[in-house]
Amino acid sequence: MMLIELKKIDKIYRNGQQSFQALKEVDLSIREGEMVAVQGKSGAGKSTLLHIIGCVDSFDGGSYLLDGTDVGKLKDRGLARIRNQKIGFVMQDFALVPKLSVYENIAVPLYLSKSVRLREIRDRVEKAAEDVGLASQLHKLANQLSGGQKQRVAIARAVVNSPKIILADEPTGALDAATAGEIMALLKKQNERGTTVVIITHDDSVAGSSGRIIRMKDGKILGSQ
Ligand SMILES: Nc1ncnc2c1ncn2[C@@H]1O[C@H](COP(=O)(O)OP(=O)(O)OP(=O)(O)O)[C@@H](O)[C@H]1O
Ligand SMILES: [Mg+2]
Repeated sequence: MMLIELKKIDKIYRNGQQSFQALKEVDLSIREGEMVAVQGKSGAGKSTLLHIIGCVDSFDGGSYLLDGTDVGKLKDRGLARIRNQKIGFVMQDFALVPKLSVYENIAVPLYLSKSVRLREIRDRVEKAAEDVGLASQLHKLANQLSGGQKQRVAIARAVVNSPKIILADEPTGALDAATAGEIMALLKKQNERGTTVVIITHDDSVAGSSGRIIRMKDGKILGSQ
């Protein structure tokens, strides 16, 4: 079974009288365990696609099955739940809460899922932090970290709920080459453990080391290899 199955997805942004079609009948299927890179020029629709896959944005036509769930039928609560259970996000600008500690930032998805006990939160946060090499930094504030450390926190936060999918939008875009390599290695490690990874990247070496490259242009997928 496909983990992600988009069929003829349209996305239209509307602002007052203006409208813009950012995705045009996009078909995309991703199997569990794949690592997929998404490439294309600025404005091609890459982030829009990722937001729809991540259930943070709605679509205007077509259908989306995520792990067997018909996403188009979900209301806000259902979307929030599926997002929290199945998806971890890693963004170019890290998207941490600056005045919270490393520990608290990593714990956010666990706080949101409500049913997790404090003891288990602690165990899972410590394990996720250790995984990304941050075990000794848990009490620092997020805004006291370097860029590479911030992205490590973001990855720990993305994986702390053991999601099936990690979605990364230019995760190395704000980092120097050496740090970018370390962050990519962490994402690959997650993929090797079975997590499906979809990563938007301008970096050809990053894309080349993925299992498959999807190229986008003007709201369409040109073909994958
Ligand atoms: N909220 C919005 N309202 C109107 N148009 C939007 C909105 N968000 C994105 N767009 C438009 O949709 C198109 C696709 O945007 P998107 O952010 O998906 O591109 P991208 O491929 O991620 O580009 P980049 O590489 O610059 O991040 C662009 O033309 C953009 O201007
Ligand atoms: Mg983008």
